[in-house]
Amino acid sequence: MMESYLLGYGLMIVLCGVESILLDMTHTFDNTSICWPNGQAKFQLKILAKGLQPGGFWYQGDDITSGIHVGTHMDAPCHFYKDRWCIDEIPIGRLVNRPVVMIDIRQKAAQSPDVNVTLDDLKRFETKYGKIPSGAVVVQCSGWSDKYPDVAAVFGNNREDTSDFHFPAFSVAAADFLIEQRGIVGVAVDTPSVDYGQADIYPVHVLLCNHNLYLLENVKDTCLLPPIGATLTSLPSKIKGSSGAATRVFASWTFSVSRAGRVHYRFKFVVVLLTLITTYLP
Ligand SMILES: *[C@@H]1O[C@H](CO)[C@@H](O)[C@H](O)[C@H]1NC(C)=O
Ligand SMILES: *[C@@H]1O[C@H](CO)[C@@H](O)[C@H](O)[C@H]1NC(C)=O
Repeated sequence: MMESYLLGYGLMIVLCGVESILLDMTHTFDNTSICWPNGQAKFQLKILAKGLQPGGFWYQGDDITSGIHVGTHMDAPCHFYKDRWCIDEIPIGRLVNRPVVMIDIRQKAAQSPDVNVTLDDLKRFETKYGKIPSGAVVVQCSGWSDKYPDVAAVFGNNREDTSDFHFPAFSVAAADFLIEQRGIVGVAVDTPSVDYGQADIYPVHVLLCNHNLYLLENVKDTCLLPPIGATLTSLPSKIKGSSGAATRVFASWTFSVSRAGRVHYRFKFVVVLLTLITTYLP
């Protein structure tokens, strides 16, 4: 088993000079999951049966209770706009293998939590990495993923007072540019909301939802993404008529190994191959 894995891995590097990465960007869904304090049900897993049954087989069955906008989740466009797609209506092509760009605002977020991904951040990003592709998902990296699920650290207070929340988000101007000039399909944040902490009328939610974009919140490890070159897949459960759903989010990308690296891997490959041959030859 181990040997065939090594063989496949070695072959890929030698033939293509690339390695592939798969990054799970989902916080585990449980009773510590960050929950917007608006009366949503707290998460609870109720185990109805777990054990050896009279027929001699093992069986577990459960119920869950939970709010929808909890943990790593997707806001459907119908969350903040009338007659827009609910979670079951978002076409799957907009969810799977989307090009993804990562906007790193860690430096200014460390100075103050009340910062946004701004139009200036996007312009600076494009100068360095090129135009954000249409059909992309734009991911904010603020460093907040490391604070999760500490309620006081994530929200900037633990008093459930939404007028005194402090965490990084997106500005309206940045969202408007990404919709009108770049034709993206969604945005993601490692914080609890795409609207800044003390927002009371949620203008970024409204703008994005009006244009049928989806929003991913409390996304894990966004700062581990490369700035460009990865693809993102976000799979919410297909709950009819729901304004959102807990979502499995993951990214994948490949990176090329340099010429020197390839020579190094070729050498290692030959060593592994020779070891296998000498081990398995009768
Ligand atoms: C959270 O779930 C764990 C089991 O995963 C349980 O032991 C614990 O009591 C629960 N806490 C609350 C506050 O419900
Ligand atoms: C962040 O963006 C929102 C929406 O555009 C804006 O109201 C807020 O003032 C911005 N925050 C800062 C610190 O610029």
